[in-house]
Amino acid sequence: MTSETRDPIIRTAPQPRDCNNNGDIFGGWVLSQMDIAGGVLAARRARGRVVTVAVEAMTFHQPIKVGDVVSIYGDIVKVGRTSMHIKLTTIVARKLDPEEITVTEGTYIFVAIDDNGRPREIPTA
Ligand SMILES: CC(C)(COP(=O)(O)OP(=O)(O)OC[C@H]1O[C@@H](n2cnc3c(N)ncnc32)[C@H](O)[C@@H]1OP(=O)(O)O)[C@@H](O)C(=O)NCCC(=O)NCCS
Repeated sequence: MTSETRDPIIRTAPQPRDCNNNGDIFGGWVLSQMDIAGGVLAARRARGRVVTVAVEAMTFHQPIKVGDVVSIYGDIVKVGRTSMHIKLTTIVARKLDPEEITVTEGTYIFVAIDDNGRPREIPTA
């Protein structure tokens, strides 16, 4: 899975303000970017509002650095009555190196909700 074969849901570039004490990008920053990307995919599939209910199997393989171009790819791996499991993968290209590196993977679970914030059925695809 690379940018040559498919489009990311989002592509972004972290800034120095997103760093932790080690000078790498703060884990919470990438978690929130994955949440945003998964939310886009989930809302499209659910055709409306969704919320994140859980995050599973999160792995940080390598650090993200200032100057990296960060791309987040996603696949809907399971659709339940009101919930969706979305596998998200973060890939970076370092500033001076075109090679793509998988830095994080995780499965985010989203629930389709109605106007009152209660779970609603996901429409058929
Ligand atoms: C998401 C929310 C509406 C679900 O409400 P609920 O009363 O727990 O609803 P249900 O028990 O009917 O569960 C709804 C679906 O979520 C799934 N689910 C609930 N908790 C889950 C968990 N911890 N892990 C995986 N799936 C979960 C259920 O299996 C069900 O899926 P299905 O309908 O496909 O079978 C409610 O928990 C909520 O509002 N949470 C806060 C969401 C939020 O604010 N997210 C942002 C976090 S900062």
